Amino acid sequence: MCGIVGYIGDGKAKEIIIDGLKRLEYRGYDSAGIALCIDGKIETRKHVGGIENLEKIIDDKEYESNIGIGHTRWATHGAPSDVNAHPHNNEDNTVTVVHNGIIENYTELKEALIKEHGIKFRSETDSEVIAQLIGVLYDGDLHEAVNNAVKKMRGAYAIGVVCAHEPDNIIAVRKDAPLVAGIGKGCNFIASDIPALLKYVREIFLIENNETIVVTKNEIKIYDENGQTVKRDVFHVTWDADAAEKGGYPHFMLKEIHEQPKGLEDTLLRRLDKDGRIKLDGITMTKKDIESFNKIYIVACGTAYHAGLVGKYTIEKMARIPVEVDIASEFRYRDSFVDENTLFIAISQSGETLDTLAALREAKRKGARILSVVNVVGSSVARESDDVFYTWAGPEIAVASTKAYTTQLMCMYLIGLYMGYTKGVVDNEYYKAMLEELKAIPDKLRLVLKNESLISDLADRFYHREQIFFIGRGPDSGVSYEGSLKLKEISYINSFAIAAGELKHGTIALMEKGSLVFALSTQDALFEKMISNIEEIKARGAYVIGITKEGNKEIEKQSDESIYIPDCPDELTPLLTVVPLQVFSYYVAKNRGCNIDKPKNLAKSVTVE
Ligand code: F6R
Repeated sequence: MCGIVGYIGDGKAKEIIIDGLKRLEYRGYDSAGIALCIDGKIETRKHVGGIENLEKIIDDKEYESNIGIGHTRWATHGAPSDVNAHPHNNEDNTVTVVHNGIIENYTELKEALIKEHGIKFRSETDSEVIAQLIGVLYDGDLHEAVNNAVKKMRGAYAIGVVCAHEPDNIIAVRKDAPLVAGIGKGCNFIASDIPALLKYVREIFLIENNETIVVTKNEIKIYDENGQTVKRDVFHVTWDADAAEKGGYPHFMLKEIHEQPKGLEDTLLRRLDKDGRIKLDGITMTKKDIESFNKIYIVACGTAYHAGLVGKYTIEKMARIPVEVDIASEFRYRDSFVDENTLFIAISQSGETLDTLAALREAKRKGARILSVVNVVGSSVARESDDVFYTWAGPEIAVASTKAYTTQLMCMYLIGLYMGYTKGVVDNEYYKAMLEELKAIPDKLRLVLKNESLISDLADRFYHREQIFFIGRGPDSGVSYEGSLKLKEISYINSFAIAAGELKHGTIALMEKGSLVFALSTQDALFEKMISNIEEIKARGAYVIGITKEGNKEIEKQSDESIYIPDCPDELTPLLTVVPLQVFSYYVAKNRGCNIDKPKNLAKSVTVE
């Protein structure tokens, strides 16, 4: 994810900023850049790739200053490239900006800047709009220009701004993206994250939403959105750098589990226009194309494949097009029924999974239209697709995928809903109601996460089991597969998932005293069937933990214990039910002393067959 570092003081800004950026490298990035104020000018250097590439082009004694800002970029708008890297400058290079987050109305702002001021843009980013806007509004007072620019911006952002005419201050603003200010001696700092600053300072101001800071060498002034100065207590950081990288969480996996509400919000809001309808910016698929599809293949591996399993239910229900879900390593070697009326959806967090890429190429060769759901901008899957529907999970560092999965599910809902509405299969009422329900999901997920201790108690009691089952029907079966994979990959427990109706065709033979079964029972129409399945397995001595929606008290009569998720339409329950399973796996693995973020035998990106 993008990182920001800024410095002003008596020291060498270049060294300090580069060092700070290096401390943010663990979060993942694709390009880096720095801008220094030198002799009344802004001097910007940026490069695609690692910080070592940037260091090569700034290895120059003349390139030094005591004020500057730097950035590591995780591409969102526009592929990773030198020109899209931050900092971004205004037209005459007097204002420079680093930005984390999204400017939702950047197209609108960009068009106005071109039309009214004849501005020539250099990059494809939303961030350049901020620099150009501040440049146009600047009239001798950078703080005021930034305040006026922010009033026109919609979205989530943390920005750092420097101006060639004011080499004695950095202005920074926070709205829904992290920002801190570091308090030094004869120097001060800004950063998106505390680890960037820990080598230099431990006294920090935590900046709140809608606050602006004016940072000079000797002072940090904080202003609220009405321009009133704010008094903030100093936060003394006691964590070591390793704990700080994980934001205070013991593992990246737990941090990423907790980042899911935000990832879902970002993935959804990025795709909604100002009237709250789905917009497919950058996607060229037309109504005619959608009407021409007579089948859809969703192809992926592992967790991404499990997102596809839920996607099948969603898209078939909403768009009424037959969907086949396949494992990429199977699809690529079989003679599938792909033709020019096929939509091929590849799902991949990394966008580099070899089997998924090979399957995509095979489908393309046969004439399918390729839509990918990818987390890494500019990755191979993204580049080779006709259209890309990005997940906005941010970089996922733990090997076990969590936030990528839920954001992939969000994309499945948006794709299904968009296609269904375009084809006239779902009416306006359903379309609007479903979008409202999707908007409510992040807060419901926050409620689920509040029950973390209940789930960790379960893990404390059951972590020594050697065999754990997950069952469900409809979309719940898809989530069961994901719950089972999570558990086995990080705790090494032999876990098994199966569509509940299949139990009696063989697997029920394994049920006995000591078996632990998670029974996902969120689908109203299938609830009674699930209750029968639970009775069957309980009769064989298994211990059953039911997962259902609040209010379905019936489950308590049948299962030994119950986990409730907040009420929501049946279609959307996978976004919530998977989370207790992720949390359970995490705490089971922790109890078993496993290496949670880097489980044995697994790699984050599988680029071999
Ligand atoms: C499991 C996991 C893997 C990946 C799979 C595909 O937690 O992360 O199963 O989902 O290797 O990877 P991507 O999504 O990068 O194509």
